[in-house]
Parts: sequence; C-alpha cells; structure tokens
Amino acid sequence: YSTAEQQDVVIIGGGPGGYVAGIKAGQLGMKVTVVEKRGKLGGTCLNVGCIPSKALLNASHMYEDAKTRFSNYGVKVGSVEVSVADMMKYKEKSVNGLTSGIEGLFKKNKVSYSKGHGSIVSPNQVEVTAADGTKSVINTKNIVIATGSDVVSLPGLVIDEKQIVSSTGALSLTTVPKRLVVIGGGVIGLELGSVWSRLGSETTVVEFTPRIAAGADGEVAKKFQRTLEKQHIKFHLETKVTGVTKNADGTVSVNTESVGGSGHSGAIVADVVLVSVGRRPQTQQLGLEKVGVATDKAGRVEVDENFRSNVQSVFAIGDAIKGPMLAHKAEEEGIACIEYLHNGGGHVNYGAIPSVIYTHPEVAWVGKTEEELVKEGAKFKVGKFPFMANSRARTNDDTEGFVKMLSDVATDRILGVHIMGANAGEMIAESVLAVEYGASTEDIARTCHAHPTLSEAVKECAMEKPIHF
Ligand code: FAD
Ligand code: NAI
Repeated sequence: YSTAEQQDVVIIGGGPGGYVAGIKAGQLGMKVTVVEKRGKLGGTCLNVGCIPSKALLNASHMYEDAKTRFSNYGVKVGSVEVSVADMMKYKEKSVNGLTSGIEGLFKKNKVSYSKGHGSIVSPNQVEVTAADGTKSVINTKNIVIATGSDVVSLPGLVIDEKQIVSSTGALSLTTVPKRLVVIGGGVIGLELGSVWSRLGSETTVVEFTPRIAAGADGEVAKKFQRTLEKQHIKFHLETKVTGVTKNADGTVSVNTESVGGSGHSGAIVADVVLVSVGRRPQTQQLGLEKVGVATDKAGRVEVDENFRSNVQSVFAIGDAIKGPMLAHKAEEEGIACIEYLHNGGGHVNYGAIPSVIYTHPEVAWVGKTEEELVKEGAKFKVGKFPFMANSRARTNDDTEGFVKMLSDVATDRILGVHIMGANAGEMIAESVLAVEYGASTEDIARTCHAHPTLSEAVKECAMEKPIHF
C-alpha cells in the first residue's frame, strides 16, 4: 500500500516506537507511511525480542513446574519431556499472530505500509529500496527515525547464530545445549539464561562488573542472584571474557580473566555461547550524514525534549535515541512525538518508566534505587515486605521475594518501588501510577486491595506498621 502522495509524516522503522507512532498518526487523521525493511512489522520486540523471549520463558517455566512442582500439589503426570521443535512452533505462533495483527491495525487506521529499506535523501524525502532493488521516493512534511537497535558483539568475536549466538540465535536453538555460557549478566542474559537452564543446560553467566541486573536496586540484585543460583545458574562476576576459541571436539572455550576480587580466570568449556553485552542504535545507512542529522558517540540521534533532531523536519524515538532500550519507552515516545507534530503537545515522564526482568521470580521496579537516593543525599525511608508473609504467595507455594518501597522522609512521597516476586511485572503498574501521580506511601496503604492477592504485599509494604509482618 505504498503511496506517492505527499505525507504529513514518514516513519522509518516498524517496531514498537514506529508502528505505535504510525497508528497514533492515523488516528489523528494525519497522512502517514511506515517504512519497514524486515518484511514484518513489530520490530525487534515482536520478532526477536520481548515476545518470543516471553513465549519461551512461559513454556520453559511450565516444563519446570511440571517436572519439579506438580507432584507437590497432587497433580500426577507421567514422564515430562521437552520437544524443542514444538516449543519453537508455539513461540512462532505467538509472534506471527501479533505481527500480522499490526498489519490489520494499520489498515483500520489508514496507515500506509511501505516494505523496504528507508533512507533520508533530503529533509523532506525518504527513499525506499524494496527487496528486489526497486527504488521509490516519498515526499513528506516530517520524518521520524524509529530504526531501533541491533546486537553488538565483543571485539574479535564473530556471532554465527548457531554456536556463538546473540539473543536472536538463542531464541531459535534447535536442541538444548549441554553447557551454555552467557556473556553479560544483564536482562537478556538472565532471561534467556533462565530459559535454557530450565530446559536442562548447565548455565554459567560471566559478568564484567561486580553485580548482575544493572539498573536494578543493589539489594534486590544481590537477592535475585542468590535466587538464580538456587535455580542452578552459576555466576562469575568481575570477570572479563578475553576471547572464545573453537575446540576440535566441537565445543568452544570461553577464555576469562579476573578483573576483581571475586573474578574467575581460565577457560570455561561450552556447547553454546550467548553474547548479551548490550545493543547499539541502528542509525547507519540511513542517510543521516547526507542531511546533517547529528548523532552522539554511541550513534544515537541527538534530539531535544520534543524528539526533534538538529534538522527541523527530522525526529527520532525509541532505541535510536538516548534512554532505556525498552519497548514501552519507545511506544510512549512514538505517541508523544506524533502528538507534538499534531498540536504541539506530547510528553513522556522518564521518572515513571517501569523495568521488568521476566524470570521466575520476576524483578520489577520504577523510580529511584536506594543507591541513587544515597548518591543524591536524599532523606528517605525504606519499607520492606516479604512474600512469605503474603497469603496468596503462601497458597501459591511461591513465596520467594519481597517488596521494597523508598519514600521521602518529609513528604512521604514515593520515590522508588522494587519488587522481586512472581508476577512482579504486573504488580509494578500500581506503583508506576503512584509515582506518576506523586502519591505517598499512605495513599497506597489506605487503598483497599483485594484479598487474597499478591498486590496486598505492596499495600502492606506501604503501611507504617504492616499487619502480617
Ligand atoms: P525496534 O523494535 O528495533 O524496531 C526498529 C525497526 O526498524 C526494525 O524492525 C528494523 O528492521 C527497522 N529498520 C531499521 N532500519 C531501517 C531502515 N533503514 N529502513 C526500514 N526499516 C528499518 N523491551 C521491553 O520493554 N520488554 C521486554 O520484555 C523486552 N525483551 C527483549 C528481549 C530481547 C531478546 C531483546 C533483544 C530486546 C528486548 N526488549 C524488551 C527491548 C525492545 O525490543 C526494544 O526496546 C524495542 O523493540 C525498541 O523499539 P524501537 O521501535 O525503537 O526499535
Ligand atoms: P544490558 O545492558 O542489560 O546488559 C549487558 C551486561 O553485559 C551488563 O551487565 C554489562 O556489564 C555486561 N558486559 C558488557 N561487556 C561485557 C564483557 N566484555 N564481559 C562480560 N560482561 C560484559 O544488555 P542486554 O542484556 O544485552 O540487553 C540489551 C537491551 O535490551 C537492554 O538495554 C534491555 O533494556 C533490553 N531488554 C529488555 C528486556 C526487558 O525489559 N525485560 C529483556 C531483554 C532485553
């Protein structure tokens, strides 16, 4: 459905930032085209990120429950086995259902979809090169760069997506590796490390810094690591990977060097290595130099508070600009950017963006960590409530974790909420709303929560004196 008509806005990239911006523009009656080169909408998130990883986390969690927990509740099953092929089919079904759903939403909202590689040839023109090489040019008042991010590797380490894999390869392995080494103890490493560990891989995470889950509250990260260790994931912190060598027997050796007190030096033998050391913005081959769009050292498009680059008609959102690389952050920016183009409005509150690690238990947070508040010299109170004291967690036999709430001593305003526990990713929404509305702990404490639910732990954490702990 590509168009020759002058557009109000052309969006390059059909991920959560770009496709949401496209639908919003369509809803506001703007003439909009989304250019996407992948052949499918949904970007990294739907195709090789959030969605397939959550499908595999769900499936592997069910396998583990069936194998190790069902019998505790009187549920008797025969031998429990994994079919990786069937699990991958289920993953693909969830991906395909959602990506094709976006095409339907585009039609409904009159969003033109141009399949091909987009590049900016002038401040008001985007050239699209289709898969067969055909080129066309779309004239437009404004351009939004929503080209997202791509995997990075380590110097000298070639990702083959079979044995040395990025998250993309780790989402499509055909067998369960006997030994998996994960380089990088961030979100991808912990989520995908959990998937394959549950399915039977002996999993070792090698992390350069002294902690895992960068960005999470330090106390939570420490307890989370202990929890993952109980799930048989091994950690080597303060450890640098110096290289990966292929062995004659088909295995690989991950060579490491200690960079601190608890570090590890030596070779770790593995069948598969997952490289998850971060992602970089995809802003190359976009024609940015041609029109003079400025990027920072990391390759991110530099934008002002309205997502405008140094070129008046060129905007950028999502993983291609600064800030956390999260789908919901990209979506918020997509909507705010289009609202700004439409009527000058649009705003994102970066202080109220939740983060979630979808392991079991989940880890979720919003606002400031304890370390950040200490660094700022803030005067704050700390409330904590363990799921062990929550009746629903007890009846679910799933009591690992706690809620931690940080609030201002003088005003009682909530500054940060950190949850480790089953369903933490769902539970955090209430705290995000609290931070967004500037609520106090007393506001949450005086709000009626259904019983028995896990979210009562958030309420009790907010109480000056919890009833059950
Ligand atoms: P992207 O989703 O990367 O989309 C950009 C799109 O632009 C791509 O489809 C690309 O093909 C296209 N494109 C690029 N250049 C061009 C061009 N020149 N012409 C045409 N098209 C182009 N975030 C969460 O919030 N929750 C999660 O659970 C989560 N899980 C993740 C799991 C994994 C394994 C990974 C890798 C990421 C995960 N993320 C998660 C991060 C999330 O995927 C990204 O933050 C999000 O996709 C960013 O959205 P975006 O629209 O900015 O970019
Ligand atoms: P990350 O930035 O979360 O973690 C990378 C980790 O690798 C860091 O802990 C870093 O210290 C470590 N590291 C870097 N170089 C290293 C080296 N040479 N040796 C050992 N360790 C090294 O990046 P990750 O996990 O690759 O994820 C990329 C992005 O995707 C993140 O920004 C995240 O926001 C997003 N994502 C979000 C998810 C979610 O919201 N649930 C799930 C998966 C990804």
